[in-house]
Amino acid sequence: MKTRNFIAIAMAGFFGLAMITSCGGGKTNEQATTDSTAVTAAAQPGAPSAEQMALGKSIYETPGKCITCHMATGQGIANVFPNLVGSKFLLEQKVLAVTQVLNGSLKVGNKTIKYPAPMPPQLGSADSAVAVINYVLNSFGNAGGVVTVEEVKDVVIDPR
Ligand code: HEC
Repeated sequence: MKTRNFIAIAMAGFFGLAMITSCGGGKTNEQATTDSTAVTAAAQPGAPSAEQMALGKSIYETPGKCITCHMATGQGIANVFPNLVGSKFLLEQKVLAVTQVLNGSLKVGNKTIKYPAPMPPQLGSADSAVAVINYVLNSFGNAGGVVTVEEVKDVVIDPR
């Protein structure tokens, strides 16, 4: 029974991905070229492109951004800023993780009582938020797969 559930989930995941890929294929040429991150990521389901990793790293390491709270190792500070290494929320809810980077943790309902303050909104563009989440999904020992710009296209970015 368990195996059967697993297979069902795996198949749902596969068909979801196949749909994303085929949506990408149905785009106009103009969209296909401007939206290259999504196309590249869809072409390599297990790992983000080198360009996306480089962009994500530069955002992560910008003073005042992620590195300031989650630290250079991604491990954060106990009881103040969460560890991103093996974070269930990050690994299992990628679209919400991107949303949290855009709109803050209060907005996604991910405020836990463990931390004294919520995570403030960080970035104003879906492309950068996707790049930085792909970076943390695949750094510090995480091997968390990818999230695409296509998957977050319905996320509304709050005005600042
Ligand atoms: C000002 C400090 C601060 C900065 C800067 C910051 N975060 Fe956070 N982050 C937090 C806090 C605090 C939480 C816990 C939120 C809560 O419980 O409300 C958190 C939670 C998270 C989580 C969810 C972890 C979990 O297990 O719940 C992710 C993913 C994350 N941050 C990624 C990032 C990324 C990527 C950046 C940079 C774009 C970033 N954060 C910048 C403070 C920060």
